[in-house]
Parts: sequence; structure tokens; C-alpha cells
Amino acid sequence: MENIIKIAKSVPLQGEVRTSGAKNSAVAIIPATVLASGPCVLENVPPLTDVRTQCEILSCLGADIQWLDTSTVRIDPRGIQNLTPPEHLASQLRASYYLMGAMLGRFGQAKIGLPGGCKIGPRPIDQHLKGFQALGCSWSIDNGNVSLQGAGMGSGNVYFDLITVGATINVMLAAAGVEGTTTIENAAREPEIIDLANFLNKIGVLVKGAGTGTIRITGAKDRGQADHCIIPDRIEAGTFMIAATATGGDVLIKDVIPRHLESVTAKLRETGVVVEEGDDWLRVIGPERGRAIDVKTLPYPGFPTDLQQPFGAYLSRCLGTSIITENIFENRFRYVDELKRMGAQIKVEGRVAVVEGVEEIRGASVQSSDLRASSALVIAGLSARGVTRIKGIEYLQRGYDDFVGKLKNLGAEIELT
Ligand code: EPU
Repeated sequence: MENIIKIAKSVPLQGEVRTSGAKNSAVAIIPATVLASGPCVLENVPPLTDVRTQCEILSCLGADIQWLDTSTVRIDPRGIQNLTPPEHLASQLRASYYLMGAMLGRFGQAKIGLPGGCKIGPRPIDQHLKGFQALGCSWSIDNGNVSLQGAGMGSGNVYFDLITVGATINVMLAAAGVEGTTTIENAAREPEIIDLANFLNKIGVLVKGAGTGTIRITGAKDRGQADHCIIPDRIEAGTFMIAATATGGDVLIKDVIPRHLESVTAKLRETGVVVEEGDDWLRVIGPERGRAIDVKTLPYPGFPTDLQQPFGAYLSRCLGTSIITENIFENRFRYVDELKRMGAQIKVEGRVAVVEGVEEIRGASVQSSDLRASSALVIAGLSARGVTRIKGIEYLQRGYDDFVGKLKNLGAEIELT
């Protein structure tokens, strides 16, 4: 039977919540262990479907995977013999394509099915392939599989035509395994890229400039092994900030790096929210009804596209007209139709949504279309009058660790049925 989330009524969220490890960091560092010379213990790994699938893929390739507890995994990549990730697993998540870079780095070749992931618009991999080519690798696509040949691969210089997290990570992984210094220009600057760089540095690769637009990777044939603790998930923390805000609540978010959420804090403050911050915590006190503002999604350190949908749910009840511009993905407004069923007044024109704030939204039966649409609908349900039922919540389990449990602890009247 399909799982449904039921939210009984709106309650201001109150209390404390801990952030789990970053999904988008974990799904990059798990494949990066392929490049290590021995077992690596990763801590603060969020127990999510995408993360489990990534581990399962490595296990099918011959790595030894042991979960030491719910958030600690020991990966020994020495037994990897099979170089082709199973198609049915690779197609379940976007990040399976990091095996291209990691396999190229270690074995000089890779073959993998085109990746899956949330349907949020076209997600080409041309920049990944361009990057591999700059390192001297050739590729072909046949029957939905990408084959990469890097027999004579070396270091190279890559300039990305647009800022891409995935291609930056993939080229870092491939460059880590070849001798010489590779330079990536117009690189993505996300904290998850810095986390990956820190792991690579621990196993003997020299990565400089991660977190800036120019990254230099000096690869090594002779690499080591390392333990690593994944950074907190800024998108999960941001989702709780928005949920606290949208319900007029007062929530302390722990185990977070406030610097990673500066754009979100700034935008919430503009709407009238009080945000206090310490070294590893944020306290958010939501207003009864916030003020409308304009938001544009941008690569980091700009406002994250992954929080555009939750933020849209909040703006639907703010005072005045807000304009949301989605600059990263073409199709990240599918949640809007569902919000409209709850009484929101939003018009979407291409990459822009015009949100006329209404005083009240009402519970309804709604359907989620992707991971962040799910959290947006939960936030809408948490701030609506009456009962909300959300279908399609398997998406939620891809990216949020125990979302329903954590919200319940904050007083939400929410259950998974
Ligand atoms: N793009 C290209 N060509 C490429 C690669 C990307 O045109 O070769 C375009 C994309 O189509 C998109 C833009 O560049 O329009 C940015 O894409 P990017 O490569 O940065 O995104 P991604 O690596 O596919 C990661 C996260 C997403 C997050 C984006 C942006 C992972 C596994 N996924 O995706 O996370 O939205 O960066 O920050 O790290 C999520 O967690 O819900 C999620 C979708």
C-alpha cells in the first residue's frame, strides 16, 4: 500500500532538532572511497535511500560495505573487480554518475547507465564529458550506457560553460587518480565540494581552491585511506528553518554550519523572521505572517534551488506579492499546482512564479512530484487549516532522515500511514 503523510492541523513548531549529515556530500564521498587504497570509515552518513543505493552499487562492484551503526559506514574498496554498476541501481539516483569519475581515476575506464534522479527538468551531462575529454579520455553513448576510455589519461585544464556541482565533482574524482595538476575554472563552490576536497586531501591527493571558482587537483597514483565525518546537511537545516517560520514557531536547529545558510537566513530576515545564530546552531522565530519578498535561485553562495520549493510554500501565506525566479532547473515549479489546490494563488510563467500571498491555505489531498516538492507540501500542510494528505512521499525518504519523526518531536501533528 502506498504511504501517505497526514497532517492534522497547523501547530507552531517548538523545540530542538538535530541536522543529519549532508546527502549531497555523502553521495559524492562514498564513490570517492573507490580511489582509496584501503578501508575508509565515513561518519555522520545520513541513512537515506539514495545513500543506501550508492553503497549497494559499490557492494555489487566488489567493495566490502559494513554499517557500523545507523550513520557510520566502513567501505573497503580493495575488492572492486567489476567495473560496470548494475543498471537498475544506477538509474535510481543522479549521483550514481560519480562512479564515472571515480572509476576513471582508479582504473582508467568506466561504463555506466545514464543516471536517474528527480525529474526537475533536463539534466544533461555534457559538461562532465567535456571535463573527462580535457583529461584525455574518450567516450561513447550506446543503448543508454556511457563508456569512457581513459587509457592515456593525464591532467588537463577544464573551463565549465556553466556552474555545475555534478561535473565539478566528477572531474575532481577523475583528476585525483592521474598524476599532474588539473585546473577547473568556473567550478561550483558548494560546501559539499569542499567536503569532498577534504576527503581527497586525506587520501593523498592535493586539492587546492575548493570553495572558489578555480580548483587545482594534483592527482596521485599512490593514494592512502582515511576516515571522514560528513558535514551537516544545509538543505535539511534550511527546510527546518522554513518550517519553523511558516508555522510561526520557535525552533533551535543544532549541528548546523550557519555560514552555509547565509542566503537563507538573509531572505528569511527580509520577510520578518528572527534568526539567531551560534557556532553550530540556529534559532528561528517565525512571525505570525511574514512579508512578501523576491527570491532568485543561484549557485552557492546564492539562494539554493533545493530550498526554492519549501520557500515557495512559506511565501504563499506572506503578506503581499512575491516573485520567485528559478535559475538552475527548468521544471522545479510542479509543486505549485498542488499548492493551488490548497488555496494558494500562484502564477507560473517559465522560470518565474508570482505568488499573491493569501491569509489562509486549507488542507487538501496532494501529490508530490520530487524530493523538495515533498518537503514544500509538508510545510504547506503544517501551516494550513484542516487536514492535508500527501501522496508520493517515497521522494522524501530519498533526502530527509526521519523527517516525520523530527517534525513530531517539534510538536507537529503529523503521521506516516
Ligand atoms: N548542467 C548542464 N550540463 C551538465 C551538468 C549540468 O547543462 O553537464 C546544468 C543542469 O541541467 C542544471 C545546472 O547545470 O540546469 C546545474 O546543475 P548541477 O550539475 O549543478 O546539478 P546536479 O549536480 O545535477 C546537484 C544536487 C541537486 C542540486 C543541484 C544544484 C546532487 C546529487 N544533486 O545536482 O540536488 O539541486 O546540485 O545545487 O548533489 C536535491 O538534493 O534535491 C537535488 C536535486
